[in-house]
Amino acid sequence: MADRKVDLILPGDEGMELPLQSPTLGNDVINIQNLSGKGYFTYDPGFVSTASCESTITYIDGAEGVLLYRGYPIEQLAEHSDFAEVSYLLMNGELPNVQQKQEFQDKLNNHTLVHEQMRNFFNGFRRDAHPMAIMCGVVGALSSFYHDSLDVNDPTCRETAAFRLIAKMPTIAAMCYKYSIGLPFMYPQNSMGYAENFLNMMYATPTETTTPNPVLANAMDKIFILHADHEQNASTSTVRLAGSTGANPFACISAGIAALWGPAHGGANEAALNMLMEIGDVSRVGQFIKRAKDKNDPFRLMGFGHRVYKNYDPRAKVMRETCHQVLEEVGLKDDPIFKLALELERIALEDDYFVEKKLYPNVDYYSGITLSAIGIPSAMFTVIFALARTVGWVSHWLEMMSSPELRIGRPRQLYTGSPCRDYIPMKKRT
Ligand code: CMC
Repeated sequence: MADRKVDLILPGDEGMELPLQSPTLGNDVINIQNLSGKGYFTYDPGFVSTASCESTITYIDGAEGVLLYRGYPIEQLAEHSDFAEVSYLLMNGELPNVQQKQEFQDKLNNHTLVHEQMRNFFNGFRRDAHPMAIMCGVVGALSSFYHDSLDVNDPTCRETAAFRLIAKMPTIAAMCYKYSIGLPFMYPQNSMGYAENFLNMMYATPTETTTPNPVLANAMDKIFILHADHEQNASTSTVRLAGSTGANPFACISAGIAALWGPAHGGANEAALNMLMEIGDVSRVGQFIKRAKDKNDPFRLMGFGHRVYKNYDPRAKVMRETCHQVLEEVGLKDDPIFKLALELERIALEDDYFVEKKLYPNVDYYSGITLSAIGIPSAMFTVIFALARTVGWVSHWLEMMSSPELRIGRPRQLYTGSPCRDYIPMKKRT
């Protein structure tokens, strides 16, 4: 295709041509890289219109409610694939054949244990610490085990770090839970699948072996697939920005976990379930919808709305179905909170405010109810999101670190502070 350009007219009738880049899918992108040479920056708080990088991993069409991992629709992956295969796909770009899948699984199995010394870190945390706080600290602390041996400029070292992170995350997540309830940590079982092993480490004890329920393990696997990646969201952008400095990848993932924790991002699943509990009864839905619409009330319908999706989040559709299956399996198909969630969704989707602002349920709306029915305490919801998103973070980190365009991320600003002025000695200050 011939080089396409857009004309930019600058003050003083000066002009400049900006290259127009064509993606495989999605909006054309105006390349403004050379604009600062003309003495201008662009202003885009919240990065609403800014592509921060080129990527081949995940595509979202927010208007149509489409999510593709390496080109494959999320619905198809959730139905036919499993998390290990999706991890391979995200990291490598293609689905694995039988041998590639086995090798991938073997490499993960090599790294599921954490260093025995890591157990000591847990003892430094208060028993009632939020598991996300523990996870941020413990994953960051992995960098103290794998720093000197890790050359981020060496692709083999980078790959090993990626496997370590994906493999150890379920072990660490389950340890965060066990620590909070004062039970001994369980070792991973490499004979089990990724989700099954996680559930086993959560619920088995040294005195009692359990076999995780296959329906619940399958639902957990789907939850992992649905949360595995979501292109340049706040936490992924955080991992990329931290990684762009050449920082240790374990520390970068810890930064991503911190960014994910907020209720506007990964923390929304915990907040959504808390909100449903607070509403408590269908008769109170109207009152909460009214609050969500009130500009003077900070309350928002948690699990509703998205920066990119202006249609039903495709992950939420799969999640709602999975939620049905789990509730059925655990004998909670008449669960009042699920019924309340369906009713709140129905009312909100008919309300002019939500219709006009294109606010639909997002993945977090039904994931909290599903996780809760599986038996996961609400403080662990975002930890599970972080566990699943780790493969997305490391895939973006790997992509960025091998890109010839890698440069330290360094945004500019619109400075509106004081102009230059002379220091005022204390005795002359009013
Ligand atoms: N309830 C009520 N009003 C809302 C909501 C909501 N959940 N979400 C957005 N709005 C309104 C908002 O008040 C604003 O109104 P106005 O234009 O009159 O000022 C308008 O819709 C646009 O909202 P925004 O905050 O400017 O949009 P954003 O793209 O900056 O924020 C969001 C996106 C997800 C942070 C926001 O929709 C929200 O806070 N939702 C609740 C939290 C939530 O469910 N987060 C999970 C996101 S999905 C998981 C993930 O990918 O991390």
